[in-house]
Amino acid sequence: MTKLAVLCSGRGSDLQSIIDAINSGELQAEISVVITDKPNVQALTRAENAGIKNICINRKLFDNRADFETEILKNLVGVDLVVLAGFMRILSPDFVKKFSGRLMNIHPSLLPAFPGAHAHRDVLNYGVKISGCTVHFVDEGTDSGPIILQAAVKVLDDDTEETLSARILEQEHVIYPRAIKLFVEGRLKIVGRHVKILED
Ligand code: GAR
Repeated sequence: MTKLAVLCSGRGSDLQSIIDAINSGELQAEISVVITDKPNVQALTRAENAGIKNICINRKLFDNRADFETEILKNLVGVDLVVLAGFMRILSPDFVKKFSGRLMNIHPSLLPAFPGAHAHRDVLNYGVKISGCTVHFVDEGTDSGPIILQAAVKVLDDDTEETLSARILEQEHVIYPRAIKLFVEGRLKIVGRHVKILED
């Protein structure tokens, strides 16, 4: 069985969509561990409720990123795929190299447009008519790795960050489990910047 580690920073609704896909039998994988960089966040409760090992590795208790990542790495032994699900930290190039091709992220915009920590705000300020979400492999840049799946969502004239993010989240909860399933089935082939989806 493919072993996942899911890294989160907050609410954990993307994590929940993965838990639900596993529980429904749609996704044949197991979550070995959920790790958060903050204490008392909902992602920890969601993991606990699902009977999944969960650990807070509080970034604030570490002097530097290297020590913080060393502690994360200790908990990733035997993990096949690391899934970033609302994990709001940039991982070091060393960490990314270790999990090259085995590290996924979801971002709430149609990359390469609107990378970074404030995608919805940036989308609304810019005035684009279509946004969405992107699942991609992580490379050493920010939100710049090879794209696996995307879903488009219309931006409405009266959208706020809350209404837009809620509609995009619905799509995130569809495409993230689907992308992980493709990985589990061995159907993702990275060719340069491209991710080819092999026939099943
Ligand atoms: C999601 O919208 C995810 O795309 C975004 O954080 C949210 C987490 O929600 N991730 C990023 O912005 C990463 N740069 P959740 O905690 O309910 O899963």
